[in-house]
Amino acid sequence: MTIRFDDQVVIVTGAGNGLGRCHALEFARRGARVVVNDLGGSRDGTGGSSDAARAVVTEIEAAGGAAMSNGANVANYAEVEAMVNEVVSRWGRIDVLVNNAGILRDKTFAKMDLENFNVVMDVHVGGAVNCSKAVWEQMRKQQYGRIVMTSSSSGIYGNFGQTNYGTAKMGLVGFMNSLAIEGQKYGIHVNALAPIAATRMTEDLMPPDVLALLQPEAVTPAVVFMASKEAPTRQIIAAGAGVFSRVVIQETPGVFLPDDQRDADHVAAAWSQIADTAGQVELKAGGEQTVKLLSKAAAALGIKLNG
Ligand code: NAI
Repeated sequence: MTIRFDDQVVIVTGAGNGLGRCHALEFARRGARVVVNDLGGSRDGTGGSSDAARAVVTEIEAAGGAAMSNGANVANYAEVEAMVNEVVSRWGRIDVLVNNAGILRDKTFAKMDLENFNVVMDVHVGGAVNCSKAVWEQMRKQQYGRIVMTSSSSGIYGNFGQTNYGTAKMGLVGFMNSLAIEGQKYGIHVNALAPIAATRMTEDLMPPDVLALLQPEAVTPAVVFMASKEAPTRQIIAAGAGVFSRVVIQETPGVFLPDDQRDADHVAAAWSQIADTAGQVELKAGGEQTVKLLSKAAAALGIKLNG
């Protein structure tokens, strides 16, 4: 076992069930002291009990590991801050944060009231922002940290009935992109997971033979890698059924339209060329897009730009 977390402290939010539980058990098996956070609510986020988190702690301790349970609602900054303070005063550091807690409130956009949209945003985006904010100073001080967001194919590609969830999950990719850039000089790497697993979140969506292939254990290795010293940064790993792949956002080379063609009719006429993926590139920061556009325009105009 090469990847180890001895002397490291790992927080996994929503670790009382499903994927989070599986991540927590594997971190503990690899030597981490694990904070098992879970509000203990139902799939739609209602209700709450600390039993689920405590049961996972008992499981970790029974296997000889170290863990503490925590019932903070990740959508509540005061509760998250209290959790982080407790962890630092007990174990002195925080090396890894896995933002995993999540809920579902599926409905078509036509039928969705704004409360169901906002609650999902509050738990997924608000929760990840709260937890990342609360650990950020500690990780900066340590000059080391690993943060993993839990995104979803529903955000990256879209899914019927999940405008709220999809917005939140793609929001987490945006959060990761900028946070990774800011974290780089402090040794903080930030990545995202796009999982698919049989949990209570998906148990009624797929037939049993499919669910049997989608065990959370087939996803957790991606999270453990993204939480390790070997982790890349600003990456999205898709994981499920034992398959691991990298999700890449790319931009086509595009076309330059001169002054006398710069209107919607010419954009429409050039659309197939604009959308042509041949020669598309992956950009590593927003500023790289500006450089790409300016370079193309400058080349087409035959001018040289300063800077
Ligand atoms: P799950 O429902 O089994 O586990 C989620 C856990 O988060 C629950 O234990 C719940 O009590 C906890 N939680 C919910 N709201 C919380 C809050 N405000 N504060 C603290 N804890 C809270 O679901 P699953 O499938 O394990 O999901 C884990 C993550 O993976 C979620 O972010 C989910 O959106 C994401 N995901 C799961 C997929 C799947 O196929 N299971 C697909 C794509 C993403």
